[in-house]
Amino acid sequence: MEIKDKVAVITGAASGIGRALGERFRAEGARGLVLADLNEDGVSEVAARLDATGLRCDVSDEAQIQALAAAAEAAYGPVDIFCSNAGVFFEGDEDQPDAEIDASWRINTLSHLYAARAVAPGMAARGTGYLLNTASAAGILLQVDSVAYTLSKHAALGLAEWLAVKYGPKGVGVSVLCPQGVRTGMTAGRDDSPAMVDGALEPEDVAEAVVQGMAEERFLIFPHDQVHDYMARKAADRDRWLRGMSRVRANLMDEA
Ligand SMILES: NC(=O)c1ccc[n+]([C@@H]2O[C@H](COP(=O)([O-])OP(=O)(O)OC[C@H]3O[C@@H](n4cnc5c(N)ncnc54)[C@H](O)[C@@H]3O)[C@@H](O)[C@H]2O)c1
Repeated sequence: MEIKDKVAVITGAASGIGRALGERFRAEGARGLVLADLNEDGVSEVAARLDATGLRCDVSDEAQIQALAAAAEAAYGPVDIFCSNAGVFFEGDEDQPDAEIDASWRINTLSHLYAARAVAPGMAARGTGYLLNTASAAGILLQVDSVAYTLSKHAALGLAEWLAVKYGPKGVGVSVLCPQGVRTGMTAGRDDSPAMVDGALEPEDVAEAVVQGMAEERFLIFPHDQVHDYMARKAADRDRWLRGMSRVRANLMDEA
C-alpha cells in the first residue's frame, strides 16, 4: 500500500519510531494523520508540526482505542492504515513483577488486538486497509534481558500472523515491524542493551523500511538485514540456536 492520500493512525507517536512514522507519512502525502500517545503534550507538539490531529490515548484500554479510531474517522473518513506502535520495555528475569508482565502484555500485545477489533472489519468490508503492528526482532528471536518483552512481542507476532491469515484474503494488508536496536526514548542510556549488539538504527531508517515494506505488502519488515539470517538459523537448528543464545546472554549479562 502507498501512503499517499491515505488516512493513517499511529500510536506511540510522541517519540521515536512512531514520531518518525508520522513525519514520513506526512512527507509521503498522507491525506489525514492522527497521532496518539499517552504523552499528550508530546504528541500535540508533533501533531502541530505535521498538520496532524494529536490525541491522548492509552492503548492498553480498549475503549480509548475505539474512541481513537472513531475520532480519526470523524475527522478524515475511514481509516486506511492503523499503526499499532506504542510499546514499553521492562528489564527482568522470570521473577519480573506481574505488574510489568501485565503492562507489557496490554501495551505491547493486546493493544494490537484492540486496534484490529476497531478497524479491521470496516477495512474488510471496504476491501482495503492496512494494519502495521510494531513488534520487535525479539518477537522472532528473544530478548535475553526481559521475560516480559519476550512474551509480549512473541505474542504480538502470533497475533499478526493470525490477523494476516484472516484478513489478508479480504484485502487488508498486515505487516509486523521487527527492528533490533533503534535510537529512541526506549533505548536512551542503554547502549549496552542486547538489542544494540549489531549497532543501532535511527527511527528515520525504520520509517524508510516501513514505507518500502508496505509498498511491497510484506508481512515481516526487518529494518536490520541480519535478522533474516538469525531467523533462518533459528528455524534450521533450534537446539544450536538456543546454545548460541545462552552464550550471548552469558557474555552480555556478565554471567560467563
Ligand atoms: N527502540 C528499539 O530499539 C526498538 C526495537 C524493537 C522494537 N521497538 C518497538 O518500537 C515501538 C516504539 O518504541 P520506540 O523505540 O519508538 O520507543 P519510545 O519510548 O521512543 O516511544 C514509545 C512511545 O509509546 C508511548 N506509550 C507508552 N505506553 C503507552 C500507552 N499505554 N498508550 C499510548 N502510548 C504509550 C510513549 O509515551 C512513547 O511516546 C515499541 O513497540 C517498541 O517495543 C523498539
